[in-house]
Amino acid sequence: MSPQSAKKKLKPRASATKKATQKATKKRPAAKRRAAAVTPENNAKPKLYASLVVQLLSLLKGEHDFIANAANFSALLFNSLPNVNWAGFYFLQGEELVLGPFQGNPACVRIPMGKGVCGVAAQQCETIIVPNVHEFPGHIACDVASNAEIVVPLFDGERLLGVLDLDSPTIGRFDDQDAEGLNELVTVFVAHEEGLGL
Ligand code: SME
Repeated sequence: MSPQSAKKKLKPRASATKKATQKATKKRPAAKRRAAAVTPENNAKPKLYASLVVQLLSLLKGEHDFIANAANFSALLFNSLPNVNWAGFYFLQGEELVLGPFQGNPACVRIPMGKGVCGVAAQQCETIIVPNVHEFPGHIACDVASNAEIVVPLFDGERLLGVLDLDSPTIGRFDDQDAEGLNELVTVFVAHEEGLGL
């Protein structure tokens, strides 16, 4: 497998991520900023994702095999994020997404653009958070244990490479902090692969 065939130019990414970033950076009066101070509770996810960025950079250091790096990235996510039963990639080949490195149960291999959560995220070039997959029209069930899902598109500039997909057995598991953290991680990952002619 290689994402070589993913040459199609698509519009830039992710209003969801933008939304999450805007929310986090919006200016507020000093008193309110104090009231909304970072607590151990609301800072837990950002802290975890910050540590995952450091770990990912260390895993990628000196290695430029795309499949090996994607495999280690999925293993890092699967083993570090709580309540996740599947973490991995689908890469764009022509008009469909094809299964890449992942951790979890065996999954469906090919997903047409626009189908399932992955296909919709890829087609819309947006991060999609699904609190309850059973309420998502056209959701593709690969693992009966999955109840929530987040899908983050990967871009090389404006070119869509594929998606990162995470599943959880816990309804409502993923939120804007996950979207923001995962988008940062995929940005680090793709930046490392730049110049490989993917
Ligand atoms: N649920 C996904 C399919 C991939 S699996 O979750 C690994 C979807 O609806 O696109």
